[in-house]
Amino acid sequence: MQVTTIKALDKTLNKLRKEQQIIGLVPTMGALHEGHLALVDHAYKDCNIVVVSIFVNPTQFNNASDLEKYPRNLADDIDLLYKNNSKTIVFTPSIREIYKKDIKAEDFDFGSITQYMEGEYRQGHFNGVGTIIKHLFEIVKPHKAYFGEKDYQQLQLIKKLVKITQQPVIIVGSPTYREPSGLAKSSRNKRLSNSELEKAAILFKALSIAKNNFNQLSFSEIKEEIKTLFEKEECVKLEYFEIAEEENLIPTGTKKEQKKYRAFIAAVINEVRLIDNMAIN
Ligand code: PAJ
Repeated sequence: MQVTTIKALDKTLNKLRKEQQIIGLVPTMGALHEGHLALVDHAYKDCNIVVVSIFVNPTQFNNASDLEKYPRNLADDIDLLYKNNSKTIVFTPSIREIYKKDIKAEDFDFGSITQYMEGEYRQGHFNGVGTIIKHLFEIVKPHKAYFGEKDYQQLQLIKKLVKITQQPVIIVGSPTYREPSGLAKSSRNKRLSNSELEKAAILFKALSIAKNNFNQLSFSEIKEEIKTLFEKEECVKLEYFEIAEEENLIPTGTKKEQKKYRAFIAAVINEVRLIDNMAIN
């Protein structure tokens, strides 16, 4: 079922709530791929009914051209979701339905987890994500909501958001779905040619270098290796490669015992910006 208004969604969900059904939410911006469907499948393992929201959220784009070029194909998305599971409720609100006349992000204090990497390179982005997710949780009131580890800072931010807002929803993280080449599935991949897609596997290669050499090399030696790797691939521009403690997501150059680390990467290919990350120990 496709629903475009909060009122219609409320009506459907209230009935399900009375029947004690467990409601799961998978927020998306559409241009759906297997990574999104893996989240939906994960949600159906724990929930009776899954709401998938499709909404290209204007307040999280720090770049007008990125917002304009963001791939949109609602009919295909809905088709894909129904083929995957015909029970799914697809919520496709308009900008006005969500923001009324005030298309503005709220100012949150998420602490260190949003300060670096994406927080540094996409000013305002995380406040926009926090704003839309807070709205969606208020509208859908799901028991559980599902987010991909592909956007690891975002996943941690959502966990913090529900603590700040005290919204009663359980946040579930789901592993990154990858192409056979290792490239993380992303809606933005749709803007790349086949040869660019091949080149984009360099992000996964870089993360794998960090993982495979975690014990042998220092973090600065790993960074040197990654720099050399990218120097050989002219079409791909490395924006950042960082290693951070999973706990606080602050980039670090020192390896400490007993700590969990993740490597984070962002790179641009033909004006398309891709990100990825991986647990490395
Ligand atoms: P979008 O990029 O459409 O992603 C929707 C959800 O799918 C996010 O939780 C994202 O982490 C997850 N996802 C994307 N690619 C994935 C992959 N290859 N494997 C596993 N999960 C993947 O992220 C957003 O939209 C927006 O910021 C949103 C949370 C919807 C707020 O507007």
